[in-house]
Amino acid sequence: MEKIRISHLSKKYGKVLAVDSVTLAVEDKEFFSLLGPSGCGKSTVLRCVAGLEVPSEGEVYIGATRVNSSADGINVPTELRPIGMVFQNYAVWPHMTVHENVAYPLKLKKLPKEIIETKLKDALHTVGLERLSDRYPSQLSGGEQQRVALARALIKEPEVLLLDEPLSNLDAKLREQMRFELKDLQRRTGIPILYVTHDQAEALAMSDHLAVMNAGRIVQVGTPAEIYTCPADRFVADFIGLMNFVPGRILSRNGEEATVEFLSGHRLSVADRSDLSGECLVAVRPEDISLSPAGPIRCRVEVRSYAGHLIDYKVRAGGAVLRVQTAKTEVYKEGEELGLAVQRAMLFAPRES
Ligand SMILES: Nc1ncnc2c1ncn2[C@@H]1O[C@H](COP(=O)(O)OP(=O)(O)OP(=O)(O)O)[C@@H](O)[C@H]1O
Ligand SMILES: [Mg+2]
Repeated sequence: MEKIRISHLSKKYGKVLAVDSVTLAVEDKEFFSLLGPSGCGKSTVLRCVAGLEVPSEGEVYIGATRVNSSADGINVPTELRPIGMVFQNYAVWPHMTVHENVAYPLKLKKLPKEIIETKLKDALHTVGLERLSDRYPSQLSGGEQQRVALARALIKEPEVLLLDEPLSNLDAKLREQMRFELKDLQRRTGIPILYVTHDQAEALAMSDHLAVMNAGRIVQVGTPAEIYTCPADRFVADFIGLMNFVPGRILSRNGEEATVEFLSGHRLSVADRSDLSGECLVAVRPEDISLSPAGPIRCRVEVRSYAGHLIDYKVRAGGAVLRVQTAKTEVYKEGEELGLAVQRAMLFAPRES
């Protein structure tokens, strides 16, 4: 069942079209991310769902309730929407203890004290903060403060959780750890999450589905694996993960296979359903290239970079410089002449000159 449905949502600020006809659905129990570069409109979409912005066009449903319709003049106020929110600056109140911060939304509702205490215990347990409930935010780490904000959002038992870059103030190590915590929390509570981030590693790691946005529009929706392995266009291919782009030429097609020539005359069969012909751009992931002394395409190692779990090379081949990532056991020297093989490639339209 759909928990959030956004239909042809647009938002204009003066002449700026910040969101351009966005349509998407978040299913129950789903972790759904909006991913895209800075300024592409992610937060604006989330703020419309939260009722913090009024859409210029389109409709928003939370569960079965239509909370926005520009055509019918519906705009349900934020406090009446069944949502929990956490933003980048997580805004926990410094003068209140963890206990007071988390209980605050229920105190506002004037619930009986015993009920507040029971729900508070549950919420603190969910985020693992039971033992710190008497501390003030200044006595907590960044990750712990983030969990206070999450508990405060969860205590109202919202139908959906809206999160806008909630991990970006944390250091890299904690951010990585919190990814697992968030995903685990979502699995335990079953609450659907609409998550905004510009960090593709974060979105790939946590999401069931994600929508990639560019310049106000959604360019692709899919599972992390679909988006990584079959990017819809060059923008997505470039934005998600590392990608080498080299010019090529399509020589022939046979069903859904194209034979492409690239890297100074090398030929490769590529699965490709597009109707491209002639000049094209061949896109290759660094892990889809292998290096060996006998590889068919001659190359030279320019830079070798140790990354712990793998080795990251820059190699020069047929006039291009390519990123290649190999197992940490495949050690070649800078300046070494060897060969490379391309296992898998994707084809896109050539760059406009
Ligand atoms: N209140 C506003 N008035 C005018 N323009 C705005 C306003 N809020 C956002 N914008 C513009 O709308 C566009 C989308 O902004 P938005 O905050 O949704 O981007 P974002 O994808 O969340 O970016 P970031 O990753 O940097 O947070 C931007 O061009 C921004 O400058
Ligand atoms: Mg934003």
